[in-house]
Amino acid sequence: MSDPAPDTLQLTGTGRLRNFIGIDGLPRAILEEILDTAASFVDVGDRAIKKVPLLRGKTVINLFFEASTRTRTTFELAAKRLSADVLNMDIARSSTSKGESLMDMLRNLEAMSADMFIVRHGDSGAAHYIARHATPDVAIINAGDGRHAHPTQAMLDMYTIRHYKGRFEGLKVAIIGDILHSRVARSQIHALNILGAEEVRVVAPKTLLPVDIESLGVTVCTDLNQGLRDADVVIALRLQKERMDSALLPSESEFFRLYGLTNDRLRAAHPDAIVMHPGPINRGVEIASEVADGERSVILHQVTFGIAVRMAVMSMCMSGRETERDDSLTPERPHATTR
Ligand code: CP
Repeated sequence: MSDPAPDTLQLTGTGRLRNFIGIDGLPRAILEEILDTAASFVDVGDRAIKKVPLLRGKTVINLFFEASTRTRTTFELAAKRLSADVLNMDIARSSTSKGESLMDMLRNLEAMSADMFIVRHGDSGAAHYIARHATPDVAIINAGDGRHAHPTQAMLDMYTIRHYKGRFEGLKVAIIGDILHSRVARSQIHALNILGAEEVRVVAPKTLLPVDIESLGVTVCTDLNQGLRDADVVIALRLQKERMDSALLPSESEFFRLYGLTNDRLRAAHPDAIVMHPGPINRGVEIASEVADGERSVILHQVTFGIAVRMAVMSMCMSGRETERDDSLTPERPHATTR
């Protein structure tokens, strides 16, 4: 079988990161570089002056067309810790409400010499579309698009797993809940498989599983006890009611009865299992408070690691692009500038 075509939207000609749209198809070396680079940034948050100069003079624009607490704020903090200038677009008050198209809005932001757009959008494929149509000078990072992908969330989850377990090889990971609507689950599955986890299980009722989910390289379990058995990592996901256009469940209390994580149910997992959740959590629906706040929970550590992981992705995209620009400065174009 021939090698897959290189992902030229995400990678430079020399294989460095230039945009971060999705995990699928990226080489293991890039994912490991993100984790290693993030590790070098974690202690920045403990310093008296929480800054490094890597993105000094760069302009990062947060474009969140969908609600967010963790992703938007940690991207903003990550950019500020890299010394970038950060602009948070207030989409609800932008001229899109006067009929301006997405691309016209982006053209105007490009005209302000933006260097990076962080994009969250309700439509699957939105970040990919923007990366294809934006000027090549601007790096695009996907902060979650529809049901498709949430790659920085998956990478902060991988960072958390590696931090607590030290490896991916030999790990059994159970992802429980609304897999059907979850961009996080898709990105986690790709990342875990690329990084060499032994088994990735998805655990949900049939109505909350995509029909082709086995093709992503997972074991499907419709029984929670079976899905949790000997799991080293347990990841709970919320029910995404805003994406459900029909009743896929009898009720939230029925879901909790069958799939809710409680201390009693967790006894089936490995005794050292960690419990993760990308947030926002819905207590008493997919997870009991005793678990969310319990000793196995690393949920708030995921949030903290998210800053370092987003710093890593932003700095890698920027340095990949700078290398690409330097490489394109040929002797035939001695006066070419880098903008
Ligand atoms: N995990 C996550 O994407 O949370 P937010 O929607 O709050 O950003």
